[in-house]
Amino acid sequence: MERITIAIDGFSSTGKSTVAKRLAKALGYIYVDSGAMYRVVTLYAMQHNFINKSSFDEDGLVADLNKIHISFQFNDHLGFAEVYLNGTNVEKQIRTLEVSQFVSQIATVSEVRQQLVKQQQQMGVDKGVVMDGRDIGTVVFPNAELKLFMTASAETRAQRRYDELLERGDEVTYEDVLNNVQTRDRIDSTREDSPLTMAKDAIKIDNSNMDLEQQFEYIYQLTRDRISQVSK
Ligand code: DC
Repeated sequence: MERITIAIDGFSSTGKSTVAKRLAKALGYIYVDSGAMYRVVTLYAMQHNFINKSSFDEDGLVADLNKIHISFQFNDHLGFAEVYLNGTNVEKQIRTLEVSQFVSQIATVSEVRQQLVKQQQQMGVDKGVVMDGRDIGTVVFPNAELKLFMTASAETRAQRRYDELLERGDEVTYEDVLNNVQTRDRIDSTREDSPLTMAKDAIKIDNSNMDLEQQFEYIYQLTRDRISQVSK
């Protein structure tokens, strides 16, 4: 059987990473969370005071990009790869609402995108990869054999993200999370460089009314069909 490239794009909190991780495991492929890479750059920018609530020193961040080393290490216990910033595991730190509030702004910077896209393309060079993000089917892997575009209502997505943050013990309100989801949708879809759009050849999946099992079964079947087609 041929190994293929699977690109999963869509709005924030549509459950892309949950399904992508499970799909990669079922296929024996690697999973790459490209959003985590933008979050790591954001965390670095926050730690070095390049970004805060009142200012963003874009030039300062760009000048420091060569000091940001991002890597992934598989955690056997969790069953997926965790992300590291200059050798430190930052998996938990990058998932806070604070990072979410700055990440879309960081992701508008072309120099940041160029650097991360290059690394992402390198990770997928041997195929057998499931990558999720916003521009995977349009920019990172325009020739991916399978492209999915996930969507759900903003309220459904905010509720899912709110439940996740509460479970982690974060103190947030549903309104703040909904506001963040809507703001990120707007910034991600309207930025000049690589805006979030559905690739022409992507399959759209609205999972507002699908549970995780239904979603996985549907996507797994699509994947198997695609692999059989390309293996002929
Ligand atoms: O998938 P996520 O919510 O963790 O992504 C965080 C942000 O990173 C998202 O709001 C936009 C940006 N992003 C991007 O611009 N391109 C990607 N391929 C992945 C994420």
